[in-house]
Amino acid sequence: MIAPRSTAARGSAVRVVGLALLVAGAAVRGWTQVPPAVEMPRVTEVLGRPTDDSVTVNARADQVLEVYYEYGPAPGTYAATTPTVTLAAFSPAEILIDGLEPDARTYFRMRYRSVGSAGPFAAGTEHSFHTQRAPGSGFRFCVQGDSHPERAGRQFDGALYARTLATAAADGPDFYLTIGDDFSIDTLKTIDAASVAERYTLQLPYLALVGQSAPLFLVNGNHEQAARYLLNGTPDSPAVWAQNARNLHYPQPAPDGFYTGNAEEVAHVGLLRNRFAWTWGDALFVVIDPYWSSPVPVDGPLGGGPKTADRWEITLGDEQYFWLKQTLEASTARWKFVFAHHVSGTGRGGIERAGEFEWGGLDADGTWGFTRQRPTWPLPIHQLMAANGVTIFFQGHDHIFVRQELDGVIYQSLPEPADPTYTLWNADAYTSGDKAANSGYVRVTVTAASLRVDYVKTYLPNDESTSRRNGEVAYSYSLPETALPRPPRRHLGR
Ligand SMILES: [Fe+2]
Repeated sequence: MIAPRSTAARGSAVRVVGLALLVAGAAVRGWTQVPPAVEMPRVTEVLGRPTDDSVTVNARADQVLEVYYEYGPAPGTYAATTPTVTLAAFSPAEILIDGLEPDARTYFRMRYRSVGSAGPFAAGTEHSFHTQRAPGSGFRFCVQGDSHPERAGRQFDGALYARTLATAAADGPDFYLTIGDDFSIDTLKTIDAASVAERYTLQLPYLALVGQSAPLFLVNGNHEQAARYLLNGTPDSPAVWAQNARNLHYPQPAPDGFYTGNAEEVAHVGLLRNRFAWTWGDALFVVIDPYWSSPVPVDGPLGGGPKTADRWEITLGDEQYFWLKQTLEASTARWKFVFAHHVSGTGRGGIERAGEFEWGGLDADGTWGFTRQRPTWPLPIHQLMAANGVTIFFQGHDHIFVRQELDGVIYQSLPEPADPTYTLWNADAYTSGDKAANSGYVRVTVTAASLRVDYVKTYLPNDESTSRRNGEVAYSYSLPETALPRPPRRHLGR
């Protein structure tokens, strides 16, 4: 995979630029607030699927290029290169950087030239990332809530989003998670393969702000409509368009020697790459997804209409449930993190919803329905997490920062990253817990002995003041808890 090269670094730098220029007809209000660059070619690079010895770069350019990556263990010192590939215009390619040392930082940059050119390869901007941490090796990761770029002016501002992502990137996270509702398609006037794909390319220049140095893990949300109920046996399905666009532009894990996950191959999609688990340092990470496993709409159906009446029909499914169970039970990690768009994928609230249906076992009338509805499952999902020492369950959907705890599991709801109104949405749905208004992201610092969770606030420059500073920590807690009082516990009965 590695071949020596001798070409000199010359030419203009590869730039990550405003998506309005990358995608013809992308007239989404608010997106144009990222200032476009003028240099050519325009390239976006996002990382994904980091392992103990590799990472995958997804690169996309606005013109046909020959590209390869050079990389090494120190800035400006490149000991190896990838093979050269041809990037078609506006057609991304995945490039594997491998053969790396575990628990080590690697520096890399793109080399590129026009196809047919006999000239030297120009050099892109250097970035770096870290391979899997060994136990005992501390690290940071960051996670954002619903970005909702289709809600410009109400819950989204492009400049604020870019500032949030740049602020997170400056934290030097080993990776970055999004929690869903980042690629909403249900407000598109025309839903087809091209318009759905635009939702994914629109995000590229933004997510690349952090994703060029921190591999991205995407959690599926309800507004993505990447959901099983929309399958129709043909390639012409919004779910197929959405998942294919997602997997084309963002390298997400499938089961291999490093990740576990979903081995199902769906017609016209292949491997979904919608849920996965991995270990990093002293932490286990598990991403789960009810949308691809439920036969019915989990939240609002595409095109409108009533929500699913019988919420027992909303499910992780047997295969995902027993994978989650086995993953949690087999892990000896000090910290265990589970990520989903929301408890059961719908509803409002955190622990207020945790007792319901397959998540907590109670029927709509408050009686125990689990044994009848899930006869082969030993425990509801919440109780499974509690029994296996899950540290934090992260969720979005409610557009509010809330920290709650139930049976020793912290329920951490995530704020929006780009809400220019800085609103405290859906606070009434949370009858307990510590709440804080938008906008920002959550930063988690992990060591073998302790854990720190920070809510980092972000502001537009004009909204800053002596009491509101971009990058300030609005709320923080540590585990084991030392300075902060432990909130009262509630216990679910059965
Ligand atoms: Fe949302």
